[in-house]
Amino acid sequence: MTARPVVYVTREIPDAGLDPLADECEVHVHDWKLPPGHDRILRRLAELEADGLLCLLTDDVDGEVMDASPNLRVVSTFSVGYDHVDVDEAERRGIAVGHTPGVLSETTADFTWALLMTAARRTVEGNEYVLADEWETWGPKLLTGPDVHHATLGVVGLGNIGATVARRAAGFEMEVLYANTERDGAAEQRLREFGVEATYVELDELLARSDFVTLHVPLNEATEGLIGDEEFEAMPDDAVLVNTSRGPVVDTDALDRALADGSIKRAALDVTDPEPLPGDHPVTRHVPEKLVLAPHIASASIGTRDRMARMAAENMLAGLRGESLPNSAVEDRR
Ligand code: DGY
Repeated sequence: MTARPVVYVTREIPDAGLDPLADECEVHVHDWKLPPGHDRILRRLAELEADGLLCLLTDDVDGEVMDASPNLRVVSTFSVGYDHVDVDEAERRGIAVGHTPGVLSETTADFTWALLMTAARRTVEGNEYVLADEWETWGPKLLTGPDVHHATLGVVGLGNIGATVARRAAGFEMEVLYANTERDGAAEQRLREFGVEATYVELDELLARSDFVTLHVPLNEATEGLIGDEEFEAMPDDAVLVNTSRGPVVDTDALDRALADGSIKRAALDVTDPEPLPGDHPVTRHVPEKLVLAPHIASASIGTRDRMARMAAENMLAGLRGESLPNSAVEDRR
């Protein structure tokens, strides 16, 4: 009997992914709510002589990790983003890298709108106001915010998620601007079919003209710190920034300054730098009047997390069988 391939999973993922893995592999799950950390991943891969590593976006998968087990053939991440995996190093070693593109676009777009609406219409503040027993009467100026309908939405990055967010703007009859590495006529046409006329502009024009700016770029050298002091300065004073992409796309210190000096009105972040954001980080002084925070949960619907688990398992199993991965990060970044 041939030995079953050994897979190390760095956190408990939904059964939709663990069950198919267990059918074909010997599966070892890091059974703790916090990530294993770099040293423990190295140690477990070496002890198990693992053939596969199923990781999360909280794991730093570098060349050292890839060398820890002589048998490692597949790294499959339970995420769309793969900035935590050194894909160059994997390619150099002939290790396949899988990810889960497309699966969370709708769910993440829903949450982006939840944040945008929360920041605009001040629902968190309203909740706190009621609980603090400050609600004495209906007030003409009580917790007023900007209208979302008919405002201008600036989408930075018109990939799957950015386009899905833009599509939802139809219901609010908004003007939609987008900035991208290049103009995307096909995406514009798809949006047109949903009644959205998206106009391609340079980032500085988008920042200057948008009431709401929403970020949907991958994290890489070009996008790290994309929104900093200069960009906040370029935005209207009453602008709202929403980030559901990756924390380091926004310079947190610059955001802190921009909220303090009124360069922008509000921000809503699902992703932060650092992540996790400590509750006493200086930028939290702006909560809740100017800042709304969430702990990287934009994709956290039950259905989407099940589908992510299934896709991560499918990538893993294909790679272990020597087949090409249904969703390869090596291919997708080309
Ligand atoms: C991803 O998969 O990259 C997302 O950030 C998870 O929410």
